Order: sequence, then structure tokens, then C-alpha cells
Amino acid sequence: MPVIDIHNHFFPKSWPDLAARYRTPDWPWIKHTEPGKADIMVGDRFFRHIYAACWDPEVRLQEMDRDGIDIQVISATPVLFAYDRPIEQALDCAQMFNDAALDLCSRGKGRLKSFCQVPLQNVDAACKEVSRCMAAGHLGVQIGNHIGNTNLDDAGVVTFLHHCADSGAAVLVHPWEMFAPERMPKYMMPWTVGMPAETQLSIVALILSGAFDRLPESLRICFAHGGGSFAFLLGRLENAWHHHPVARGDCEYPPSHYLNRFYADSAVFDQRALQFLVGTMGADRVLLGSDYPFPLGEERVGSLIRQSNLPQHTKAKLLGSNAERFLHLNADATEIHHGGSDATPGSSPVVPKPNQLTYSSYLKVPELLELQKPQSAPPHHDELLFILVHQTYELWFKELLHDLDAVVANLRRAGESQQSHDEVYEAARLLRRCTEITRVLVEQFTILETMLPTHFLAFRNLLEPASGFQSEQFREIEFLCGLKDEKMLRYHRPTPEGYASLKRRLDEPSLHDVFFGALRALGKLKEPSESSTERERFEARARAIHELYKDENHHRDWIDVCERLTEFDELIVSWRLRHIQLVERIIGVRMGTGGSAGASYLKLTLDKKFFPELWEARTLLTE
Ligand code: HEM
Repeated sequence: MPVIDIHNHFFPKSWPDLAARYRTPDWPWIKHTEPGKADIMVGDRFFRHIYAACWDPEVRLQEMDRDGIDIQVISATPVLFAYDRPIEQALDCAQMFNDAALDLCSRGKGRLKSFCQVPLQNVDAACKEVSRCMAAGHLGVQIGNHIGNTNLDDAGVVTFLHHCADSGAAVLVHPWEMFAPERMPKYMMPWTVGMPAETQLSIVALILSGAFDRLPESLRICFAHGGGSFAFLLGRLENAWHHHPVARGDCEYPPSHYLNRFYADSAVFDQRALQFLVGTMGADRVLLGSDYPFPLGEERVGSLIRQSNLPQHTKAKLLGSNAERFLHLNADATEIHHGGSDATPGSSPVVPKPNQLTYSSYLKVPELLELQKPQSAPPHHDELLFILVHQTYELWFKELLHDLDAVVANLRRAGESQQSHDEVYEAARLLRRCTEITRVLVEQFTILETMLPTHFLAFRNLLEPASGFQSEQFREIEFLCGLKDEKMLRYHRPTPEGYASLKRRLDEPSLHDVFFGALRALGKLKEPSESSTERERFEARARAIHELYKDENHHRDWIDVCERLTEFDELIVSWRLRHIQLVERIIGVRMGTGGSAGASYLKLTLDKKFFPELWEARTLLTE
């Protein structure tokens, strides 16, 4: 995978005197000061020192080799945008620099690509120029984040962005001409303060105006400098959106919904900021961008990402594969492959189009792979396994709850319709799935047992007081099946959503209730008298099961459900037992991180059964 820098700038070595050409003052020009060095001037005013990397492909390629960069996508310097000039001048100027960019790329040994610039003050001219440039070999367009007082949500700009999506042009948004220059006269504050705010303003304008609701998902748009202050202040924006109708704007969803509609580059210059950006935007949405070769650019391009604690596969995305997708670079390769003579029918894999569902986007694989956050620093090798095993259990717990809920619904319907047996069979079929899942859950502990006790102890103290004791889904399974213990609720107070789910389960009829309710509705279990004790009711239920087994020919369907419930009960006990063995193997008889006595507490849970009547019925059966 090539390493691709999507945000860096070039400056042609020379171009005609624009002030003389258009007979208007204050055009940018380049003043060569000594070999390999120059100043950018705007009219008589000094703007910036630059050096040969801006115009000399040899210097660029050498520095790319030094930094381990395979491809750079160069773009002009915003000072050349000319959005405030008459359209014919701005178009002429854009064409000149666009052709100069291609000329530089042609000497870049295939490693230099380019974004064009357009006269954004005129939508028609901007659309035409981007089409001309795409045909000539540019990969997209760099635009400024505003045109005078007009933000990116302007109807004309939105039309232009639509056109970019249609013509396959990637868009890089660069802040420029920062607001309130009179309040930021010194210390480069327009760059350090103005630029991040300008960029945030552009993103917020596109979101709140509903522009992203109207623009096609095929639009590929990236904001420079990590999207400015947007990611850090998203929470503030989201809060305003939810609580103040006036802050909602015209977008259909809360702002965070639109994070998958744009990209941000990695030019944030701080490890914590990069981590935060990736955490907010997602690992698929951040691209290497350096601002090279300007003084505020990354000195060793790519080092921020390479030296970060991000997982290797995330680094690979940021360094290259996200850019390949953003720039449609590998789409070209795919087309070549498909058109090639060795493309035998039936043997070439289907390649999804950018806006189609893929394996990864459907299953949210990138998001899933971002969810493991070790506490140890540097991460202990075995902590990843520890996290993954627990997460896998939780995923299966989710499926168990899903299926057990369906079992409850089927049994409830079975009790309501005396004739149909379909619901009973369906309940048995789903219960079989639950037993198969639980069998896997019992087995899975062996993987964790490959972790040495010493390895666990190396990071165990970082986990306190986190413990499986607080697994809301595990407790939900218990409550759903009928093992309800209200006292357990207090351990879940710190997580209000989990607490609410458990409280609901506590108040709802359980699987146990619904199962015996159905038998009662079908006349297989007598209504208990008001005065009957709990013990008498229990014995009546056990006898009802006993009766079913005795009359096997008429109750095959219900016996099947009973067998599955028994097996499930049995497997949950096996799970408890294997968990205890694991606990003893890893921490002996130490106390748990959740504050219990550890293995000795867990041993007390071994006698718990969801359906004790099913076991009691076995004792009642005679030869
Ligand atoms: C190194 C591995 C593990 C150790 C040392 C361990 C230890 C313990 C201990 C000591 C308890 C008792 C509560 C406490 O005081 O913390 C407990 C409870 C629990 N653990 Fe684990 N555990 C491990 C792995 C797992 C795994 C992989 C799961 C899978 C989800 C899990 C799920 C649970 C559950 C659900 C409880 C509550 C059981 C109940 O209250 O009946 N544990 N664990």
C-alpha cells in the first residue's frame, strides 16, 4: 500500500507578471532571493519564505524518499485563489496554475498527483474548469473555505460540490483569508487561531444547512488541518442541536450523524489530538496531510501517524488506504484489471462501487476493530486477547437475548392459540440455537486460559473495579430466564441505560413465567389456589411437566421445548463451572476486581437453575 500525502503545496518557479497582465495591483509573485530560496510576495508585501521543494520535483522526490512518502497530491497555495477578482482573470489564473501543477507532476516519476483550483465565485466557470482538469489528469480540486462572506452552504457552492461528485473529483477544503484580521495582527494568529475556526465554520455550515442531506454520498470531501476545531467542539454543537431548536438548522439528523460524509487530514501536530480525531471521525475518515513544504508543515511527513499508539491497521489506513479510497486511486487499477486480457468470465471478483455496500461497511468492521482500547501503556501483549474474549462473550450474550426474547414471544402465542403447534416448534428451534451458542461460550474460556497468571496480573490492577459482575447482558439473561434478584440492580446504577434494561426485565414476565403460563392456558397446569404456598405451586408445576413426559405421544412438541430448556439450564451451569475453573487457574482464591470474595462467591451460584421444575420432574418419573 503506497503512503500518500493529500495535503501539501506547490508554487511554480515562475509565471507571467499578473499585475501587468490584468492591469490591477496586488497579485502574488515569486521573488527568488538566492539559489533554491524565494519569497512569496503579494504586491509589495512579503508573504512567506519558501524553498526549492515548492517548484523542483527533484528536491521534492528526495525529501519524499527521506520521509517514506510514495505519493504526494500537490495543490496550489490559497493566496493564488483569486476569488475576489473578475471571473475572466480568476479563470485565467486558475488555468495557468492548474497547467503548471500538471507540468510539475509530469516530472514527478508518477509519484506526484495534483488537485486543481477553480474560480469558485462563478459556479459555471468553476464546474467547467474542474471538468477540464479532471480530463487532463488532476485527481480533484482544492477550494477555499469561503468566498468573501459566502460560506460553503451557499447554493452555488453546493451545486459545484454536486458537480464534483458527479465528475469524480475529490475535494480538499483549505481555510484562507481568515476572519477578523484586525484582531489578529501578530504572532501568526490568523494561522493558529483563525484557520481552525474557519474550517470548523465550513463544516458546521454544510451540516446545519442540510447541504449533506442534499449532496450525494458519492461526494468525497476532506477538510484540511484535521477539520480545524470541529472534532473537539462537536459535543458542544451536538448539545446545542438537541436543546435549542434555533441551533438545529435545517439538517435532518444531529451533527454527529454526518461524520461519515467527510474526511479530515492528519495535520494536527499532537498525538493526543490525532487520537481524538481518529476517535471522533473514525479510522476510515482521517488521511495523511502534512502542509509540506511550508514552515507550518510537518517536518518529517508521516511521523505523527507513524509514532502514534494507533493500531498498525489504523496507521495503514491513515497513511495510505483511506487516501486511495478518497482519491479513487485503486479504482483505476481495478478498471485496468477488468479490461485486461486475463479477465476470465466468472473468475473476476465483483468490485463494489464507492457508494455500494461492502463487507466492511455492512459489518462496520473498521468501527469494530477500533473498539479495543487496552489500559496498559505500553499495551501488554495479552490485554488485547482479554478484551476481545470479553467483547465476543458480550456479542453472543446479545444474540442470546435476541433469541430468548423470540422464544418468549412464540411461547406466549402458543398459549393463546390452542390448535397451532408452529409456535411451539419455533420456540424449540430457537432454543436449540441458544444451547449451541452457550456450548461455544463454555468452550471459549480455553482461549483465555492460554494467558499466564503472571501476564494477567501485569495489568489486572488497572481494571479495578471493572468485572464481569457488572455485565448487564449476563444479568439480563438471568432475569429474562426467571432468575430475578432485585439486589443486583444496585451494581448497575453507574450505567443508567443498563440499569433501565435490567429494571424492565425485572418487571416483565420471564421466560419461566411465560412457559408455565402457556401450559396453564392449554390446560396442562391447573391455576393455583389463592392460599397455596410457593412450595405447593412449585410442586404443581413439576407435576405438570411430569404429566407431559408420561404422555409422550401427545406432547412431543412441548417435550422438545422442555428438553431444550433443560439443556440450556445445564449449559449455563457448565458455563458457571468453567468460569470458576478459569478464575481459579488465573487468580486462585483472590478477591474479584468487582469486590466479591472471588471463586468462593462464584461457587455459590452453581446451584442456581432457571427451570428447577424440569429437574424435579425427573425425580417424579418412575419406571
Ligand atoms: C482472567 C479472566 C477472568 C477472571 C480472573 C474473572 C474473575 C471473576 C470474578 C472474581 C468474578 C466475581 C465477581 C468479582 O468480584 O469480580 C467474576 C464474575 C463474573 N465474570 Fe469473570 N473473570 C474472568 C473472565 C470472564 C469472562 C471471559 C467472562 C465472559 C463474559 C466473565 C464473566 C463474568 C460474569 C458474567 C460474572 C458474574 C457472575 C455472577 O455474578 O454470577 N468473566 N469474574
